Amino acid sequence: MLDFSFQNPTRIHFGEGQIAAISQEIPLDARVLLVYGGGSIKSNGVYQQVVSALNKHTWFEFSGIEPNPSYDTLMKAQKIIKAHSIDYILAVGGGSVVDGAKFIAAATLFDGNDPWNILAKQQTITQALPIGAVLTLPATGSESNGNSVVTRDGNKLPFSSPLVRPLFAVLDPKVTLSLSDRQIGNGVVDAFVHTIEQYLTYSVNGKVQDRFSEGLLQTLIEEGPKALEPATKENLEVRANIMWSATMALNGLIGAGVPQDWSTHMIGHELTGAFGIDHARTLSIVLPAVMKVCRDKKREKLLQYASRVWQLTEGDDDTRIDQAILLTEQFFTKMQVPTRLSDVDLGIKDIDLLIKRLEEHGMTALGEHGDITLDKSREILIQAL
Ligand code: NZQ
Ligand code: ZN
Repeated sequence: MLDFSFQNPTRIHFGEGQIAAISQEIPLDARVLLVYGGGSIKSNGVYQQVVSALNKHTWFEFSGIEPNPSYDTLMKAQKIIKAHSIDYILAVGGGSVVDGAKFIAAATLFDGNDPWNILAKQQTITQALPIGAVLTLPATGSESNGNSVVTRDGNKLPFSSPLVRPLFAVLDPKVTLSLSDRQIGNGVVDAFVHTIEQYLTYSVNGKVQDRFSEGLLQTLIEEGPKALEPATKENLEVRANIMWSATMALNGLIGAGVPQDWSTHMIGHELTGAFGIDHARTLSIVLPAVMKVCRDKKREKLLQYASRVWQLTEGDDDTRIDQAILLTEQFFTKMQVPTRLSDVDLGIKDIDLLIKRLEEHGMTALGEHGDITLDKSREILIQAL
């Protein structure tokens, strides 16, 4: 196992009715900015619950954070923050809103010239406003990690800091009942790929991390499709298991002490930046191709994945690896997400732009070995056609 330091201070309030807990979590003298997205929280009752919980607080609101939050939208929050001396951000929504809140919190107290450099030049932030989160879409793990992804002019860039990790997060599976099938499928697949990117590398004998990851993958494979089937889609236990899996998949625990491979995400970000494809749908297209192109380097872990996650015991090594990749694709199809570039009307002509963007963003040595060069990324994209 590799050496690591691990701390995850986000306090989780899990279960029905837990939105009320925010009244205790946010100091009464705080000046709160409630930030949210396009309004789903107004039609599913979440907004009302939050407003009730904040009835003793001084609060203001900022809405309109879009999926794949845009820099320009997020910067508009600064005017309200200054005008009302805001000192606490409450994010209510999916990963985009939570990520957006993180950038807003960092930009407010940024001591450099231009907050864009937090993303473009990876300038370190030294302070940020405190953040709390009410999660409405289980997918990204953003509610208890320090990551954020922001888009400007087709450039989708991440930044990361422990200073923007939410102090608390409310996870009420009931609020996920209003999600569309598309968002459920996206969320389950995103959490699945987060787990894979911290698992499917090479073995360092991290038994706890491996078995934890395998448990998350199996849970998502078992429960994910149930959230789309009419007979089980309203089942709150299904929703609870998906929600907790998604949080655990990217809260730092399973990735501590093991190698990681974020190539699927980095290539996927370019697909979203250039063509506006939903985040998870880029991952379901890229991951099977990464598995195929990198099968030799990932061989040992692919075999472990085949046997422990998919219980494949028949046939020789290569047959079991082929089968595991096929079953992964079939799982994605069950979750109603695409697995090929052609499924989203992209083709060979679009690959040059993606490679150019990867180069511009410094994504030239991806993967757990840093050996996914631009040529390898091209090979992966061709494999995904
Ligand atoms: O904007 P509203 O009206 O809230 O609607 C949203 C949005 O249209 C809707 N929605 C959310 N909760 C709902 C709901 N609709 C009905 N009922 C509910 N309970 O769903 C739509 C998509 O929301 P979004 O927040 O964009 O989805 P998701 O949570 O998948 O977040 C995706 C973003 O997170 C980034 C992605 O790149 C993307 O920008 N990621 C963040 C990560 C992190 N912070 O660690 C890691 C991920 O790999 C990912 O990159
Ligand atoms: Zn993701």
